[in-house]
Amino acid sequence: MVSSKKVKTPLLLLVVFLFYLNIAWIYALGAIQEQKQKQELRFGASGEFKILQVADMHYANGKTTPCLNVFSSQMPYCSDLNTSAFIERMILAEKPNFIVFTGDNIFGSDTKDPAKSMNAAFAPAIAANIPWAAVLGNHDQESTLSREGLMKYIVGLNNTLSQVNPEGVDSIDGFGNYNLEVFGVKGSSFENKSVVNHYFIDSGDYSKIPFIPGYDWIKSSQQNWFNDTSKKLQRAYMTEPEAQKAPAPGLVYFHIPLPEFAKIDSSNFTGVKQERISSPILNSGFFKTMVASGDVKAVFIGHDHLNDFCGDLNGIQLCYAGGFGYHAYGKAGWSRRARVVVVSLEETDKGSWGVVKTIKTWKRLDDHNLTILDAQVLWSKSSKSKFSLTQTSQ
Ligand SMILES: *[C@@H]1O[C@H](CO)[C@@H](O)[C@H](O)[C@H]1NC(C)=O
Ligand SMILES: *[C@@H]1O[C@H](CO)[C@@H](O)[C@H](O)[C@H]1NC(C)=O
Ligand SMILES: *[C@@H]1O[C@H](CO)[C@@H](O)[C@H](O)[C@H]1NC(C)=O
Ligand SMILES: *[C@@H]1O[C@H](CO)[C@@H](O)[C@H](O)[C@H]1NC(C)=O
Ligand SMILES: *[C@@H]1O[C@H](CO)[C@@H](O)[C@H](O)[C@H]1NC(C)=O
Ligand SMILES: *[C@@H]1O[C@H](CO)[C@@H](O)[C@H](O)[C@H]1NC(C)=O
Repeated sequence: MVSSKKVKTPLLLLVVFLFYLNIAWIYALGAIQEQKQKQELRFGASGEFKILQVADMHYANGKTTPCLNVFSSQMPYCSDLNTSAFIERMILAEKPNFIVFTGDNIFGSDTKDPAKSMNAAFAPAIAANIPWAAVLGNHDQESTLSREGLMKYIVGLNNTLSQVNPEGVDSIDGFGNYNLEVFGVKGSSFENKSVVNHYFIDSGDYSKIPFIPGYDWIKSSQQNWFNDTSKKLQRAYMTEPEAQKAPAPGLVYFHIPLPEFAKIDSSNFTGVKQERISSPILNSGFFKTMVASGDVKAVFIGHDHLNDFCGDLNGIQLCYAGGFGYHAYGKAGWSRRARVVVVSLEETDKGSWGVVKTIKTWKRLDDHNLTILDAQVLWSKSSKSKFSLTQTSQ
């Protein structure tokens, strides 16, 4: 008996060791799978990909944070929770494939704990299990977390595809510069090609140069990265298999308007301009860089809550979303709103899905019916010209 016990102990140890090895494997595989899933945005079997843009939530502490610019009779029943309720309603109504938060997600200077505020602000997207991405505005860092700290916290949250900065880039200004590809329909010949590209840029907060007051601008390090990334994506798209002649459409998201937003007016945009366009004084040339790249079809920003227009300048649609959050300045009687963007693929002769045919947009108001407003075609493969589907006046 003594000798058999001697044999059993190592055997038992081996069994225990294999058992733990197995568990480690399962965890490792799970982690790899999770990472893979995280990296992938893809068109569904309907051939559509729908984006919900949420601009300027200005989230603070939840229930105790009052609303701004609502009718005084509404004040006693209005808080950050109305902002959360609006996202929840939008998710139910539109069932987006992807949610983009374009900055001033939290209002730092009224926030007791920025991590807690962000948890609450992004909670509806996380709870709905919808992939989401965020960039920062000029108010997010006005609490105890730096811009780097904020982005590092965001990338750890569930279901987010946000990145602190692109891999393999030595130095880049800001935090929250990255791109995301969207692949064609599974089983189609475009299943391994990105047919629409998202670029996220940190437009910063305030100028750091003493003799230049006002807002910050998109730096040349960021524009170089954008240039390189755009070229790389275009090369891949225009080579076999399914080599294309024109680049895949690119959509760009950041917070602060470029000076070029002031070049369009109500005669050539859809929506409204009710306040000054608060751009940086210095034009760092990002608009020109985008025009030269040739793939960007639309830019989506926030920052000016009372502007909600989209207008074409040199083939690029410049779009505001309009203010979303209730702790953000707004206008009583002028509903908080969100922008929806739908990218649709063309059907091929073989009854499968091909490349992008149209990019459409509309807004929804946070009113009783979530009223749809200003539906328009932003870009279409054939005509490349914009025209209005329906024009609802306000
Ligand atoms: C905010 O939400 C409360 C509770 O649902 C609601 O009674 C109130 O009307 C909302 N306020 C606004 C301005 O939407
Ligand atoms: C994040 O997702 C994981 C896995 O689904 C879950 O266990 C965890 O509770 C989630 N965390 C939050 C804060 O929702
Ligand atoms: C896409 O990639 C997968 C995995 O590499 C491959 O099995 C599949 O055949 C590819 N599809 C096309 C259409 O090239
Ligand atoms: C981007 O590339 C274009 C050429 O495609 C070049 O003219 C421009 O200077 C580049 N911009 C930056 C900021 O690198
Ligand atoms: C928009 O319309 C105004 C007034 O008609 C005009 O001055 C301006 O050049 C137009 N801008 C564009 C980009 O078409
Ligand atoms: C909102 O929807 C209801 C039906 O649910 C309808 O009776 C009402 O006219 C709509 N209001 C507006 C402003 O469209």
